[in-house]
Amino acid sequence: MTGRVVVFDPADYVAGAARLIGEKIVDAVVRRGRCSLALAGGSTPMPVYRALAAKGFSPSIPWDKVEIYFGDERGVPPDDKNSNYGAARLVLMAHAPIPTASVHPMDGARADREAAARDYDGILPARLDVLLLGLGADGHTASLFPGSPALHETERRVVPVIGPKPPPARLTITPPVIAAAMHIVMLATGADKALVVARVLEGAASPDELPAWLARGGTWVLDSAAAAELRDQGKGKREKGNGPTRAGPAVR
Ligand code: 6PG
Repeated sequence: MTGRVVVFDPADYVAGAARLIGEKIVDAVVRRGRCSLALAGGSTPMPVYRALAAKGFSPSIPWDKVEIYFGDERGVPPDDKNSNYGAARLVLMAHAPIPTASVHPMDGARADREAAARDYDGILPARLDVLLLGLGADGHTASLFPGSPALHETERRVVPVIGPKPPPARLTITPPVIAAAMHIVMLATGADKALVVARVLEGAASPDELPAWLARGGTWVLDSAAAAELRDQGKGKREKGNGPTRAGPAVR
């Protein structure tokens, strides 16, 4: 799978990222009749989810054909302010006509975290159609943190971890889930992500140092601040409005 880099001006980022994700969802439904969409946690995706759920959003998303999964979850209940499911529910599920039965949160707060991970592994599709990921400044993605034993997991598709980003106890998808995804969309904005974006996409890092390396083959949707350290940003036509300002070259 070859990757690509799409860079938006900050003012265009949310609309552009939402449109790009919407097109991948519609593409999956056209091809397969349904779309399995795994949401990323953290703060970056939330305005993009809100845009996806907005009335009149184009392309029109057949939400009744979309199954919602999660790439990771913190060890908190759904109504906790740190819950990825809880945050997505507020901005996406509360506004888009997504059947409740189509939303599959991870049971992050269950005391038996191994059992919670096993149960989620049992409901994850063999191949996610669209996997959304976020990027930490340390190179983590989902809840795969640098140096984590989870990075060497080849069998289990969901595992409990203890990470350095609070809250520490989490459930996360593992490398096999990322490798199997049909479309990966990495969402990263802000100057604080610029160095790690360049290290992952243009450096010689390993997944152990920079777990986001596992997503190099996906579509990296960046704002110009997060793309600022990339040497090779392509010379695409600069468009105003929702279009990408520069579509970068395929990521090596
Ligand atoms: C989480 C996320 C995590 C997040 C990055 C970026 O649960 O914390 O899965 O991987 O995507 O830390 O977070 P921001 O978007 O808030 O910078």
